[in-house]
Amino acid sequence: MAEFYRNLTLVTTLFILLQLCSNISYSTSNSITRNQTIRDGDLLISEEETFEFGFFSPKSSTLRYVGIWYKNIEPQTVVWVANREKPLSDNNGALKIADDGNLVVVNGENETVWSTNVKPESNNTVAVLLETGDLVLSSDSDRNDLYWESFNNQTDTFLPGMRFRVNPSIGENRAFVPWKSENDPSPGRYSLGVDPIGALEIVIWEGEARKWRSGPWNSQIFTGIPDMFRNTNYINGFKLSSPPDPDGSVYFTYVPSDSSDLLRFTIRFDGIIDQFRWNKDAKNWTLLQVKPGRECERYNRCGNYSVCDDSKEFDSGKCSCIDGFEPVYRNQWNARNFSGGCKRSVPLSCGLVADKEDGFKELERMKVPDFGSVVSLKNSETCEDLCARDCSCNAYAHIEGIGWMIWTGDLIDMEHFEHGGNSINIRLAGSELDGKQKSKLWFIILSVLGAFFLGLCIFIIWKFKKRLKAFLLKKKDIPVSDNRENSAESSTELIKVLVGDQVDTPDLPIFSFDSIASATEDFSEENKLGHGGFGTVYKGNFSGGREIAVKRLSGKSKQGLEEFKNEILLIAKLQHRNLVRLLGCCIEDNEKMLLYEYMPNKSLDSFLFDEIKRESLDWRKRCEIIGGIARGLLYLHRDSRLKIIHRDLKASNVLLDTEMNPKISDFGMARIFNYRQDHANTIRVVGTYGYMAPEYAMEGIFSEKSDVYSFGVLMLEIVSGSKNVSFRGSEHGSLIGYAWHLWSQGKTKELIDPTVKGTRDVTEAMRCIHVGMLCTQDSVMHRPNMGSVLLMLESQISQLPRPRQPIFHSFLNSDEIELKLDGHDIASVNDVTLTTIIGR
Ligand SMILES: *[C@@H]1O[C@H](CO)[C@@H](O)[C@H](O)[C@H]1NC(C)=O
Ligand SMILES: *[C@@H]1O[C@H](CO)[C@@H](O)[C@H](O)[C@H]1NC(C)=O
Ligand SMILES: *[C@@H]1O[C@H](CO)[C@@H](O)[C@H](O)[C@H]1NC(C)=O
Ligand SMILES: *[C@@H]1O[C@H](CO)[C@@H](O)[C@H](O)[C@H]1NC(C)=O
Ligand SMILES: *[C@@H]1O[C@H](CO)[C@@H](O)[C@H](O)[C@H]1NC(C)=O
Ligand SMILES: *[C@@H]1O[C@H](CO)[C@@H](O)[C@H](O)[C@H]1NC(C)=O
Ligand SMILES: *[C@@H]1O[C@H](CO)[C@@H](O)[C@H](O)[C@H]1NC(C)=O
Repeated sequence: MAEFYRNLTLVTTLFILLQLCSNISYSTSNSITRNQTIRDGDLLISEEETFEFGFFSPKSSTLRYVGIWYKNIEPQTVVWVANREKPLSDNNGALKIADDGNLVVVNGENETVWSTNVKPESNNTVAVLLETGDLVLSSDSDRNDLYWESFNNQTDTFLPGMRFRVNPSIGENRAFVPWKSENDPSPGRYSLGVDPIGALEIVIWEGEARKWRSGPWNSQIFTGIPDMFRNTNYINGFKLSSPPDPDGSVYFTYVPSDSSDLLRFTIRFDGIIDQFRWNKDAKNWTLLQVKPGRECERYNRCGNYSVCDDSKEFDSGKCSCIDGFEPVYRNQWNARNFSGGCKRSVPLSCGLVADKEDGFKELERMKVPDFGSVVSLKNSETCEDLCARDCSCNAYAHIEGIGWMIWTGDLIDMEHFEHGGNSINIRLAGSELDGKQKSKLWFIILSVLGAFFLGLCIFIIWKFKKRLKAFLLKKKDIPVSDNRENSAESSTELIKVLVGDQVDTPDLPIFSFDSIASATEDFSEENKLGHGGFGTVYKGNFSGGREIAVKRLSGKSKQGLEEFKNEILLIAKLQHRNLVRLLGCCIEDNEKMLLYEYMPNKSLDSFLFDEIKRESLDWRKRCEIIGGIARGLLYLHRDSRLKIIHRDLKASNVLLDTEMNPKISDFGMARIFNYRQDHANTIRVVGTYGYMAPEYAMEGIFSEKSDVYSFGVLMLEIVSGSKNVSFRGSEHGSLIGYAWHLWSQGKTKELIDPTVKGTRDVTEAMRCIHVGMLCTQDSVMHRPNMGSVLLMLESQISQLPRPRQPIFHSFLNSDEIELKLDGHDIASVNDVTLTTIIGR
């Protein structure tokens, strides 16, 4: 019994010992020597147990591959595969050193399915799995004598310590080829590598087509990845070896800032590079970055000659043609198919005769285009000269760390960054350049000089204010007669102070309060012409005999100030014979005044609605007045540099000069539109009762068509000699309703003012009424614009559309609207401009 126990103990001890031994040899082995065989199931483990080498099957596959993966990391993360094209179908494969010294993978039939395939000088070799994840085949006697290493035969993963070869004479090095799919390590259709030609960059290809590129390496970062500066993992990461090997090769390496970090770059089966760091605490991979990630990182996302900007969202997505270029296929572009790209709007003259020579326009913060070449400049030659001389050169740039580059082909794959990037100079036809691009140096010199002199001037003015004023008074060619009684200073400064830093401050003569006071005899009652929207209008008489009209803002009126500024800004820029001219202004303490040309015949309403005076307005005159107003309005809407909506057109705002020519006045409420804008909203509805278009009165929407409505009302008033509002409360609600009523009964003629009745121009008057009715249609859509109105009036359009029945006037007369209008700030309902706030 005791014997038995002793034997048992012995056997057990032996067994345990054996087990231990095998375990130890198992786990410490990081190499295969000549006489060893690694069978499926056995593993090589690197010295500090970071990597393992052996047979594996990808998830959901039974095929056996030989590869390297991280030890102790779940799920299994494979970084290298040997027999990716020839998997084994069973577990009978083995790894060994062949007789010729190569490391081979054999199948159950002893057939070699994979080999390192080199010619070692000695067949006494050893394969070792290093701590970095590199599997090396070396001479057993001299381990530094490497014949082969897995780091030079990469699959899809770039590991720290790997050397990524770059050699311009060899060309593109597509070292990494991802798996075909998540479970199939065979080579997929993508590849990742370096394009060393021109300026060196990293590229992802799909077949032969580029899918992403890093932008040129500037010896610190890849310029197309500006965040590299902010990412400490990067900034200390990539290095390009130097000096080159004898054959001209240099190598990219990557060293993590913390060498104990496990980091990897892997190109996924779908052609995307992920950078991961192992998180030891959470025991999972942290994704550091993805390329291409943002939409604009996709190669040439916007097509040739265009720029992608991820911070923008245009109508056409994130793409825009570079300045001076336009979409090749506008429709596709608008439908967000950018593959057609952009083309030059104006071809380069390139030495041919042209008005202006080709020039360059600088784009900032750019990912520079692909396929540039680095050039070396001879002394005294600039890159601009070099590019300008070569007709195929489209752009040049200077990139710190690379030098001068030019692009002679199409400009491809450009991106605009919010931070970082490089400036690039795009070549454009002379006519596409604004003058200031001409010479940067001159620009700088001039601005410095300009600033200096401006400073000097301000200093002098400040120092000699008094004397200068006196001097100016003596010297100045004062627009309005006498130079003793009115002091005028042509200065934008005062206006600037008042209206703020407007870009286009008009240069308007400024008059002193005293000179105006004496011209208007201290604003005497006799000189009072009327009471306009936001102030009283006086007649002024300068001693030279020149007459002016002065609008004086009531001192307290805050609101008037707004209109005052508006009028200065607007009307000073407008020049048309049917617009009243602003001659100057006065800004002194609480006094704000505008000076206009004096209109001896006052305003249209003083004639039109006056029993006696109206007779002097025969049909010819009325017709001319209508035409004049229409042309003035068309100028505002279309022909001036700005698009202006007057918003307060009415009989009392049309002034008449000595020849009874109409002039539109009072631009206090006018608004400037930009050209593409066709309507705007305001919460402050201003206008005059009876002239306001329905959409404006009720919703605060105004457009040129709301002016057309006012014009229509005015025209009906001129033809009929009656006020629109005088029909309030009547059966038809308004003049418009009355006109409709007569028209639908075929009695339009009755609308014509009796004082002009019996004229031979009845058809013309009827035409005016018809057009007036079209202008006062309730729906914006049914109203013509001023251009068509003029054509209609000049009988150039023979067939006028039928007007529809107007409904709106009845709303306008309902109590509801009146309450709203009456609730605020209204002086009188009849003649004076109303202001109301519509609650929103
Ligand atoms: C390998 O086996 C050969 C004989 O086949 C032997 O001569 C040699 O010493 C062995 N080498 C090692 C390292 O075990
Ligand atoms: C291996 O090398 C030794 C001497 O270096 C040689 O004798 C032997 O034949 C070689 N074996 C094979 C299979 O080539
Ligand atoms: C494989 O070849 C080795 C020698 O290279 C031999 O010893 C072994 O028996 C062979 N195995 C099979 C299954 O053929
Ligand atoms: C290893 O890489 C070299 C070039 O780097 C290549 O010629 C060779 O085919 C590769 N071998 C394997 C087994 O992938
Ligand atoms: C990694 O683990 C952390 C903590 O457990 C978790 O918050 C995070 O979502 C995980 N990340 C991934 C990619 O699974
Ligand atoms: C985009 O436009 C190109 C031609 O420029 C055309 O070949 C392609 O089919 C278009 N793609 C789509 C999705 O419409
Ligand atoms: C864009 O430029 C490339 C390179 O010059 C050219 O091959 C391609 O045809 C161009 N694409 C279009 C749509 O013109």
